[in-house]
Amino acid sequence: MIHFHDFHPALSDFQADILAGLKTEQKTIAPKYFYDARGSMLFDRICQLPEYYLTRTEIALLKQYGAHIADAIGPDTILFELGSGSSRKIRLLLDALRPSAYVPMDISKNHLFRSANALAKDYPWLEIHALCVDYAGAWNLPSGLNGKRRIAFFPGSSIGNLASEEAVALLKRIARLVGDDGGLLIGVDLVKDIGVLEAAYNDSQKVTEAFNKNLLVRVNREMNANFKIDRFEHRAFYNRDLDRIEMHLASELEQFIRVADELIHFNTGETIHTENSHKYSLAGFHRLALCAGFHPAKVWTDPDDLFSIHYLQTQGE
Ligand code: AVJ
Repeated sequence: MIHFHDFHPALSDFQADILAGLKTEQKTIAPKYFYDARGSMLFDRICQLPEYYLTRTEIALLKQYGAHIADAIGPDTILFELGSGSSRKIRLLLDALRPSAYVPMDISKNHLFRSANALAKDYPWLEIHALCVDYAGAWNLPSGLNGKRRIAFFPGSSIGNLASEEAVALLKRIARLVGDDGGLLIGVDLVKDIGVLEAAYNDSQKVTEAFNKNLLVRVNREMNANFKIDRFEHRAFYNRDLDRIEMHLASELEQFIRVADELIHFNTGETIHTENSHKYSLAGFHRLALCAGFHPAKVWTDPDDLFSIHYLQTQGE
């Protein structure tokens, strides 16, 4: 059984956001805008790159510890997934977990609907409520999802996009979503050797570069802008002070770009900051979780300490 709920933000949100971000001192475009149809496709390719250890390591952890994870979470739950994308990882948990309902939430509507349909075919016993939402924005829950313990699944280290205050704010909202006696299973990328980190965001096939630059392709198409894609350079580097990978698009020359009805000026070397990807130690992430009212229950890591999956709980009554 499958239900669709569309709370997709209006196009004007995108346009207003992009223009506002291009007018600040450090130009920025929020990483949620990567995920149009082509961006989602490019992200799926990133996840298969040899340098991008995150996805394959998290999948290996889910496979190896699926039964332990299901034990920790317990039966009869409603399972929410934030940023469900292709809904590929959840498949590794469904057989062990057997939740009463699955609620994939994603901003990319077509991707969400296609993935939810595919999942419904393979798991006929599963009740699915697909929600097209920006999980970082305001969302409403469809009715009929009460009465069971609620668990959120937030894989892929997407929490890393947020700086600590915003990360705590999102974790607090997730804590409210799952309520008393709820849980959060969350994938978190670990602090590690800088060479390994920087290679993951500067792959030799340049898929990450295409993913980053696709933002400009999207703005050109959806805002009648005239970015010349090859006049911008992909930059991704580790910021040691803030424990994060930063991605930017750097203008190779001084230029004016038309975006909607405005002209945006770029100095040579000036960048649009497109993404942060924060990395955590286990203790560092536990501190963050505690600030949001979650209590660390379990954590699983791989032998090379590349990636972690935390299970956190809210307090029961
Ligand atoms: C989806 C935010 C976890 O930060 O590694 C991958 C996105 N950006 N390569 C990450 C991303 C460039 C990814 N997250």
